[in-house]
Amino acid sequence: MTAAIHDRVRYLEGFTALAEAHAFREDVNCQWRVAKRPVGHITPDDFMWTEEPIPEPGAGEVLLKTHVLGVAPVMRFYMQGTGAAGERVLEPGDVIHGRGVGEVIASNRDDISIGEFWQGQMGWQSYKATSLTPQEKFFPMPHRDLPLELGAGVLGMTGLSAHAGWFACGDPKKGDQVLISGAAGGVGSIVVQLARIAGAKRVVGIAGGPKKCAFLKELGCDDVIDYRDEDVPQAIARLFPDGIDLYFDNVGGETLTAALDHLAMRARIVLCGSISEYTLDNPFGPTNYTNLRKVDGRINGFFVYNHLDRFEAVMDEMAGWIREGRLKPIQDVEEGMAFMPRALANLYFSANVGVQCCRVRQRTKADL
Ligand SMILES: NC(=O)c1ccc[n+]([C@@H]2O[C@H](COP(=O)([O-])OP(=O)(O)OC[C@H]3O[C@@H](n4cnc5c(N)ncnc54)[C@H](OP(=O)(O)O)[C@@H]3O)[C@@H](O)[C@H]2O)c1
Repeated sequence: MTAAIHDRVRYLEGFTALAEAHAFREDVNCQWRVAKRPVGHITPDDFMWTEEPIPEPGAGEVLLKTHVLGVAPVMRFYMQGTGAAGERVLEPGDVIHGRGVGEVIASNRDDISIGEFWQGQMGWQSYKATSLTPQEKFFPMPHRDLPLELGAGVLGMTGLSAHAGWFACGDPKKGDQVLISGAAGGVGSIVVQLARIAGAKRVVGIAGGPKKCAFLKELGCDDVIDYRDEDVPQAIARLFPDGIDLYFDNVGGETLTAALDHLAMRARIVLCGSISEYTLDNPFGPTNYTNLRKVDGRINGFFVYNHLDRFEAVMDEMAGWIREGRLKPIQDVEEGMAFMPRALANLYFSANVGVQCCRVRQRTKADL
């Protein structure tokens, strides 16, 4: 075991111990709150577990029981109080923001019935009373014949991010030679498959470690680059002698620089995320962006919430591909709400494969 992997394992063990110190209770509202703002990587003492009475829904409100919570890199920014992704700025002591899937267990609204499932801004808590405000971006859970967990993945904002980034911003063309970073993560594992659906000629995925690279081959990548083990610029030069047509960027940093050095004519770069920079004090700026000029290329950023008007149509399309077996949802599920902090740590320490989420109530043997 290398020192780096050993450190990662020890780091995650701290979050396992944190989870094991908190027992989930059905009769109260279990919550994770910001204990203090993270500096650099999150640590267990940045989190605080609280238990409150289950809220009573007021006039015009429903009471939701949380079943699944999604986990995304942006949640570290919420904890830092940067007000990322248009969410209210969190103060120490606040319940951490997070989208999830909830079941209506009480309703003071004529248009919403007990037993319906909704996805939206639940927060890291096991119950929420809400009037489903526009700010919380709630949607009825689509396609209930498919597993509920997908609401925190392909049939939720991760799926919409992948779809909007790939189709609306990437402008994919049949025969494209495609590079995808963070390819084994939540968004990335969906984009790999969308690239196949869109008729890419070649799909190359970048991920860390042999296990993830083997997974990417199974998922449909023609070639993979293990950025922990290979020189990324050299590997890109070798794998793209004619240049990259479409680069879907989840990590930013030096990988983006390397891609900018190997662009084909009219290349497109989709700026989805830059996780390699999120814990840096100073943001990284590529110095070779002018390479775009040589190839009539373009960089296109996007923000998932700018695409909400297409949510239902995109979910219908994604569900269709799932049923046809063309899109395989890959989810990495933590069992039990106590493990939410570890689920977030997994993202920054590369422990997840596919969409990271958390089943709030651990499954019993009867569910399996
Ligand atoms: N634009 C938008 O609206 C939007 C919406 C959703 C998500 N995003 C962004 O899209 C990206 C992917 O999001 P996600 O939710 O699917 O997360 P994710 O890809 O599942 O994120 C975790 C993965 O990132 C990789 N990673 C972690 N640290 C890294 C580093 N220093 N260098 C390179 N790779 C690193 C790890 O994979 P390896 O093992 O391969 O290192 C890890 O498994 C994130 O940057 C996120 O902020 C943007």
